[in-house]
Amino acid sequence: MASHILRRAHAADIPVLARLHIEAWRETYDGWMPADVLANLDPTDWEARWRTQMSVAATDPAHAVFLALDASGQPAGFGACRRQTSQKLLPLGYDAEIVSLYLLRRIQGQGVGRRLVLEMSSHLIAHGCRACGFWVFRDSLGARDFYERLGAAPTGVEGVWEIFGMTLPDMAYGLRDLQSLKASRGSSLHLSDARR
Ligand SMILES: CC(C)(COP(=O)(O)OP(=O)(O)OC[C@H]1O[C@@H](n2cnc3c(N)ncnc32)[C@H](O)[C@@H]1OP(=O)(O)O)[C@@H](O)C(=O)NCCC(=O)NCCS
Repeated sequence: MASHILRRAHAADIPVLARLHIEAWRETYDGWMPADVLANLDPTDWEARWRTQMSVAATDPAHAVFLALDASGQPAGFGACRRQTSQKLLPLGYDAEIVSLYLLRRIQGQGVGRRLVLEMSSHLIAHGCRACGFWVFRDSLGARDFYERLGAAPTGVEGVWEIFGMTLPDMAYGLRDLQSLKASRGSSLHLSDARR
């Protein structure tokens, strides 16, 4: 685990993020999304999505994207967080959200996902946030177990994820106290320029 590195991602990383996002989707949603949808994911389209997200981020200092690098320095995962945008979760007190969290299969199960959530929590706390609510694909039992191991719980709010013509069931999870998440876990992963 100690050989993985987290670092902040910047605009120059957009092509890398787009490629990683597509690869992670193909691994994660194989069997859940139609094969032709996954095969036709277009890096140019995903770069545009990331450029939009990064430009909106310029107005929200709580927005941050962290890249996870594998032992040979290759990007192999990412996590993105920002101030809450869901009108369903804001009234429940969730002032921050995890926008996305994806690791390639080859670095899963080694504590990197937890480290990314901790790093995002630290960043959100530093920007005045207290609680994090986020959406999880309802049928992704592994992702739900992961978040529950970190102390998150279902909020009771459900919805749908509408993307590429698909309508997928979604449910919102919440981490009520980002500070306690941060305080309850040790840090054994090397952090590069994570707080630039
Ligand atoms: C879900 C994901 C982020 C977890 O990251 P990870 O690095 O594999 O998980 P970690 O090694 O940090 O595990 C942390 C804890 O969660 C548990 N956990 C992780 N994945 C799990 C799974 N699929 N099923 C059950 N428990 C799991 C671990 O056992 C560990 O528990 P511990 O408290 O006993 O140590 C990662 O597997 C992933 O990117 N999956 C594909 C994409 C995805 O589903 N993303 C979430 C989208 S909402």
